[in-house]
Amino acid sequence: NTSTLWGGRFSEGTDAFVQRFTASVTFDQRMAEEDIEGSLAHAAMLNAVGVLTDDELGQIQTGLAQIKGEIAAGEFPWSIELEDVHMNIESRLTQLIGMAGKKLHTGRSRNDQVATDIRLHLRKSIDVIAAEITRLQNGIIGLAAQHTLTIMPGFTHLQTAQPVSFGHHLLAWNEMLERDYSRLIDCRERMNMCPLGAAALAGTSYPIDRHQTASALGFRAPTENSLDSVSDRDFAVEFCAFAALTMTHLSRMSEELVLWTSAQFDFVRLPDRFCTGSSIMPQKKNPDVPELVRGKTGRTNGHLMSMLTLMKSQPLAYNKDNQEDKEPLFDAIDTVRDSLRAFADMVPNIQPNAEAMRAATLKGFATATDLADYLVRKGLPFRDAHEVVGSAVGLCVERKIDLSDLSLEELQGFHSLIEADVFDALTLEGSLKARDHIGGTAPNQVTAACQRALAKVAER
Ligand code: ARG
Repeated sequence: NTSTLWGGRFSEGTDAFVQRFTASVTFDQRMAEEDIEGSLAHAAMLNAVGVLTDDELGQIQTGLAQIKGEIAAGEFPWSIELEDVHMNIESRLTQLIGMAGKKLHTGRSRNDQVATDIRLHLRKSIDVIAAEITRLQNGIIGLAAQHTLTIMPGFTHLQTAQPVSFGHHLLAWNEMLERDYSRLIDCRERMNMCPLGAAALAGTSYPIDRHQTASALGFRAPTENSLDSVSDRDFAVEFCAFAALTMTHLSRMSEELVLWTSAQFDFVRLPDRFCTGSSIMPQKKNPDVPELVRGKTGRTNGHLMSMLTLMKSQPLAYNKDNQEDKEPLFDAIDTVRDSLRAFADMVPNIQPNAEAMRAATLKGFATATDLADYLVRKGLPFRDAHEVVGSAVGLCVERKIDLSDLSLEELQGFHSLIEADVFDALTLEGSLKARDHIGGTAPNQVTAACQRALAKVAER
């Protein structure tokens, strides 16, 4: 007999290293609050069905309240010997209240307990993360609305393609986040089921009321199948997929910010408080926040792979492998939450440099398509127009000038259909205004898109 909670069957204690190797308390203690919530709901249900007396329930409630206080105050005696958060709290409870503490685990197993705790913890985290996405989207849309007339080059292949407004570009960011938000809410909806009562794997012979615990803990319903309840971690895979994709989006935005803050682009400035300097080069102002977010994307993308691989060969039902779900999941939560927070703080304070953006747009023949479209309007087939404008651009490249710098006579040398009104098509404002349909970069369309985007976010 040994001192552990399963001592009865064992004739020697656990090897000291194995104890450390198998323990999870160093990282699963962050679910302590949820473990206590779950135990309170379970105990109340046991009392309602007649398994615990009112007195026993009262003692359990008092004991758990004290433990909650000890944990909050940093005074709880966490112990590696007690392996995980569940056994640490249960042992402490028994230490505090005696017999009644030992009865708490009736009709329950750590297997359904941990499955419940993770869901409760993840649900809380999802709500914080959802609020950060909303805050960031509001910031992006607010900035976009101020810049429907700030013209920058739109890129494909990172080569100047066509003029767009800075506001229009920002709304593209917003769309990515809008989808991330809906993925997160989907994940929350699917995972919000209560595994409590599945016990070790087959259910329990006690007359438990799974609907009571499910509703006390704010779940939609009890889970359907006890085997699946203790072994399912696909909610965690889904969350990690959400985190990886959201971080990938933030990383793309980061990459743009890093490029745009460089002296070569100089499209935007970030406030000093989001940057750091160099210990050797006095001129430096480094965009640390976007760089770090871009770098941290490696973590979340790795965590998704860890979670998938963790699950791929597990037979039903619970296996100890599942203890490995927590570190990737928790780090994914922290990484995506903090990155969103940094972005939500930073984005409304981005200062665009309209002059530099405009100069860059003028440099790259961004209105070449507009010249081709002009010729098409005058009756030329698009393929021929493409050819004509290509030759004109070739000449401009040679002479290091823009299309709008060519004289009317020179332009007419490329095609006789060109008339004086061509210069309206060659201006950046004209190009922008012409893309006047839903999803286009025309200023009135971007203004309307901002209003629709804000309304969607406000509906949440
Ligand atoms: N610490 C374990 C985990 O994280 C709790 C469940 C352990 N159950 C068991 N039968 N060993 O998954």
